[in-house]
Amino acid sequence: MVASTSPSAPLITVFGSTGIQGGSVIDHLISSPKPYRIRAVTRDPTKASSKKLQEMGCEVVKAEINNKDEVEQAVKGSEIVFAVTNFWEHGAAAELQQGKNIIAAVKANLSTVKTFIWSGIEHVSKVSGGKYTKVEHFDTKGELTELARSEGLPVINVSAAMYMENSLGMMAPRKQEDGSFVVAFPINPSTKLHLIHTRRDYGAYVVGALESGKVKVGDGEVLACAEEITAEDLAKQWGEVNNVKCAFYQVPVEQFQAQAGDDLTQMFQWFQDFGYYGGKDTKLSQEVLSPNAKVQKWKEFVKESDWTKVLNGSG
Ligand SMILES: NC(=O)c1ccc[n+]([C@@H]2O[C@H](COP(=O)([O-])OP(=O)(O)OC[C@H]3O[C@@H](n4cnc5c(N)ncnc54)[C@H](OP(=O)(O)O)[C@@H]3O)[C@@H](O)[C@H]2O)c1
Repeated sequence: MVASTSPSAPLITVFGSTGIQGGSVIDHLISSPKPYRIRAVTRDPTKASSKKLQEMGCEVVKAEINNKDEVEQAVKGSEIVFAVTNFWEHGAAAELQQGKNIIAAVKANLSTVKTFIWSGIEHVSKVSGGKYTKVEHFDTKGELTELARSEGLPVINVSAAMYMENSLGMMAPRKQEDGSFVVAFPINPSTKLHLIHTRRDYGAYVVGALESGKVKVGDGEVLACAEEITAEDLAKQWGEVNNVKCAFYQVPVEQFQAQAGDDLTQMFQWFQDFGYYGGKDTKLSQEVLSPNAKVQKWKEFVKESDWTKVLNGSG
């Protein structure tokens, strides 16, 4: 299946198109029964992932989101805009500016843009009442959500839960000398983790936000979370599927902080005290999904992923 080229199909500009979230959004737009023209934004239209988007019928355009004019050009003529920014590549100050550039471009194009899907996360400093002020990669996105709303944009915040994919990388179970595994976070074992297989399923929530008729623009929000699972069960299920012993270990906060720094440490403390979404109920958000969208649970993700490196202790 490919994106529509019909002039009557709504044009959606996708920032972050070559990445995990944007890639998922594009796959789900293309497989929706509703036609969309897709403008895929990248810094490098010549790379393989950009060429693949072209083959999928997307109009691939070059834009650097630090550059206001290029962002504005990318948004021009769109009816829908999707945007995600990458904190980990650019840091808080740059992410904030990039988000502001996108918000300004949407605002300047409100004659055509009717929906702005923004990938935000909770404003931890504010919601925690100042208890956790170092979770910058959440706060910047929370600030941008607030800005988009205060500017009166037709925004829907489709907030990605913690990626299941993290467990294949920096949050992988760690092999112990006796051959068993531990999942080690600085939270108590009964803390709920909110998860999504992002590359596969995030776009289902975005398309649901656009098509279900259940989400208002302005203050609309969709919590893209496929499963809430305790840290203890996450470790247990991973071990069961891989046929190895795997337990959850509550790392002392100071020890975790020394290795991972303040941002991630306070993020986990926020999960424990307030929950990933600050206590919001994720159930309602499942209602936006189309009946065909079967989002993946943790156990299924574990079954279908390749854990060779993690199991070898080299993940
Ligand atoms: N890991 C988690 O559990 C989790 C949970 C919720 C939210 N998040 C958030 O997800 C965000 C990352 O999203 P992702 O996983 O989809 O990222 P990703 O896979 O690394 O992709 C990043 C995308 O952003 C584009 N991009 C980056 N800098 C750009 C720039 N200066 N100009 C234009 N485009 C730019 C890249 O395009 P090109 O390289 O093609 O130019 C690429 O398409 C982070 O901010 C993180 O905080 C993560």
